[in-house]
Amino acid sequence: MGDMREIRNIVILTGAGISAESGIDTFRSEGGLWEQHRVEDVATPEAFARDPDLVLRFYDMRREAIQTKQPNKAHDALARLDSAWQGGLLIVTQNVDDLHERAGAKRLLHMHGEHLNAWCTACDIRVPWIASLIERPPCPVCGMQALRPDVVWFGEMPYGMDEIHAAVRNCDLFVSIGTSGAVYPAAGLVRIARDLGAQTLELNLEPSKGSPRFHEARHGPATVIVPAWVEEVLSGGG
Ligand code: OAD
Repeated sequence: MGDMREIRNIVILTGAGISAESGIDTFRSEGGLWEQHRVEDVATPEAFARDPDLVLRFYDMRREAIQTKQPNKAHDALARLDSAWQGGLLIVTQNVDDLHERAGAKRLLHMHGEHLNAWCTACDIRVPWIASLIERPPCPVCGMQALRPDVVWFGEMPYGMDEIHAAVRNCDLFVSIGTSGAVYPAAGLVRIARDLGAQTLELNLEPSKGSPRFHEARHGPATVIVPAWVEEVLSGGG
């Protein structure tokens, strides 16, 4: 990585790998989520229309599971960086768990939505939600039984793209943590940053599909390599 004195604005993209050591399955690794449930059976609007019980049960299970998990040292390190970094910073997470915010991160955007929110498709309100949805509870605002998980499914537009693009276009350093680089538009952000002159760094357990898109890649478990990188940034090294 270059000299940190040149770095003012940082964008950090995170994926399932940052939560892996908290005990939350990643999507594409062996034994990962999509192997037990085909993507098209659970994570598309068409699947929800065809078999809402299957989709709601799947997300109920996930919503319950994440409430038993804790942030790990990688989430903690990013929260520390967020509070200490004087320049611009945005953590863009593809994760729908709440471990970044439980670790204390503030400058955070959930581009794929949040497990702990429900979205009423009747009145378009989004409400915090920790219970199950399978019994079709009424929307607390309009009373309609039209709540769905507030997660972005394949074929739907991720949240916050304007804000994300603005931050990426302005960043001097783009860091990707624990993501396979398989899902767009998230996977394309590094290209935008790099084309505009930002330094780019990948932190991942192993070389990912996206590794060649980065100036530098460091490999290892997130709980080890993320805190080490954050210490480096905060000490002005690089
Ligand atoms: P993936 O499961 O595709 O990739 C997880 C990445 O994390 C892989 O590159 C692993 O090598 C890496 N990894 C695993 N354990 C790690 C560890 N302990 N430390 C560091 N890295 C580790 O998950 P995502 O890239 O997040 O979208 O998947 C992107 C999107 O695909 C998800 O947000 C989800 C899914 O479809 C939606 O649900 C809309």
